[in-house]
Amino acid sequence: MIAERVVLVTGASSGIGLETARLLTQEGLRVFGTSLPHEEPGELGFEILKLDVNSDESVSACLEGLLDQAGRLDVLVNNAGIGLVGMVEETSLAECKAVFETNYFGVVRMIRAVLPVMREQGSGLIINTSSVAGNIGVPYEAHYCATKVAIEGLTRALRCEVASFGIKVVVVAPGYVRTNFYNVLRQATEQLEAYDEVRERALESFNESARAGSDAPTIARVVVNIVRSKSPRLRYWAGSDARLYGWVEKLAPAFLTDRIMRKKFVPDQ
Ligand SMILES: NC(=O)c1ccc[n+]([C@@H]2O[C@H](COP(=O)([O-])OP(=O)(O)OC[C@H]3O[C@@H](n4cnc5c(N)ncnc54)[C@H](OP(=O)(O)O)[C@@H]3O)[C@@H](O)[C@H]2O)c1
Repeated sequence: MIAERVVLVTGASSGIGLETARLLTQEGLRVFGTSLPHEEPGELGFEILKLDVNSDESVSACLEGLLDQAGRLDVLVNNAGIGLVGMVEETSLAECKAVFETNYFGVVRMIRAVLPVMREQGSGLIINTSSVAGNIGVPYEAHYCATKVAIEGLTRALRCEVASFGIKVVVVAPGYVRTNFYNVLRQATEQLEAYDEVRERALESFNESARAGSDAPTIARVVVNIVRSKSPRLRYWAGSDARLYGWVEKLAPAFLTDRIMRKKFVPDQ
């Protein structure tokens, strides 16, 4: 049992966030989960706050609401995120910026809002959600991957900046997970014929991996273990495909992983 602490999970209306918020509640934490302002998620088993991570005002209001009710914040789980598929040449800058707005700047907004609170307390834990895709660099998902690489860099730097204030920062990197993520995935509006074959292969592999992915409670259990840990590591691979990748990354040289990806996605020349 974890001693009662206050936790905020962003994007808790579905998928990994929902399961994480539920599991942490069962563990005895006081959990606030967030849903988008226009949504009415109903009874989810934990307290709900409205939040759009794309908006400064919404982030401030969410934090104010939480502090009014709980008076402190011990753990922030930056889970809210969206997906985008499309080849780099096909994807407009506006589409690219939109995925960064939520997946990277949304996380930065949350972190900037909670740091003064955690510094004042002299303790805190921030868990940022990356993805194994960020480490691999999956064709057809380049900008999504880039947002997750950015999360990794942010986490590494921030971890050092705030360690002396008693604040820990870690990254959880799931592999493929069967959630609503794939139903609401954004797609680049332009489609160039030159990429038809690569796209077809990429989509095939994408759907196959998503179907074979972990379930959300598997990832939630990893997050609970991070919250339980007295000295959490920098990165947690979550799901069996992610753990396998973690080993491949440790053992295989970059040219080998590059060759595997090209064999999978690039049509024979
Ligand atoms: N599924 C995967 O295979 C996978 C793999 C690796 C990493 N991840 C990461 O895991 C995290 C959770 O994904 P998931 O698979 O659980 O997907 P999901 O079921 O679609 O959940 C995403 C959550 O984020 C919320 N959200 C989206 N935009 C938001 C915004 N602007 N402000 C606040 N909340 C917002 C969504 O709210 P609505 O439901 O109301 O839109 C939803 O609650 C994401 O960061 C994703 O990148 C997922």
